Amino acid sequence: MNKKIIAGNWKMNPTSQKEAREIYQGIKKNTSILRKTQAIVFPPVIYLSDLTKIGTGKNLILGSQDLFWEESGAYTGEISYAMLKNIGVEYVLIGHSERRAMGDTGEILKAKMQVALKNGFKVIFCIGEKVRDTHGKYLSILEGQLSEVLEKIPPKYISQLVIAYEPVWAIGKDAQGVETPDGFFQNTIFIRKILSKLVNKKRALEIPVLYGGSVNVKNAESFLVEGHADGLLVGRDSLSAKSFSEILKIAEKVK
Ligand code: PGA
Repeated sequence: MNKKIIAGNWKMNPTSQKEAREIYQGIKKNTSILRKTQAIVFPPVIYLSDLTKIGTGKNLILGSQDLFWEESGAYTGEISYAMLKNIGVEYVLIGHSERRAMGDTGEILKAKMQVALKNGFKVIFCIGEKVRDTHGKYLSILEGQLSEVLEKIPPKYISQLVIAYEPVWAIGKDAQGVETPDGFFQNTIFIRKILSKLVNKKRALEIPVLYGGSVNVKNAESFLVEGHADGLLVGRDSLSAKSFSEILKIAEKVK
């Protein structure tokens, strides 16, 4: 049985190491009881080394919100894949809508994806449309986002790949709407169809598809049960150890 993946993207929060430690420790103490759930926390990269010292484990992994595709060199402000690897980071987020909005094009995302997979990272690759139309035109946006980065990815990397479907209009405190578990489920069918064309027909089902976009304690269960999500990518509610731990417990109870 595959574990449910519950990932927390802290984005550019919190503002102090002390707070980061408190949140992480609060989450960590609730992960030892997990059997069917994998918790992954994506803090700002500046806190990664320190949090690694507090400890990870089988049920709790730390990841980076981004990575750069060169090993080292004259790339001011960037964090290379090798630096992350050397402090023991195993997971990276690629393609988050906020990074796309800050200039990560398909070409850039492909370079990040290739270097991440080649270097053994597990990748949560985020896709999602900015606007939902009623005629299904948004599906071609999802198809484009998948194909520009995953086309010709060798099947040997399938086990390192996780997709997070995050409709941009449903993300954050200014979200314009809410996705329904059924809407998510319909979209995962489409995503899997595209993955089977792009990556591998038989093995596309092995790729977990997570839901993200205003996930909270109240709606987590419905996305996991009615939406059949393989996991969740949580933004705001991952900054509260209490809420995030509650979501972990919900995932643990789901059959
Ligand atoms: P949110 O963020 O849960 O705060 O909507 C989700 C995300 O951007 O990954």
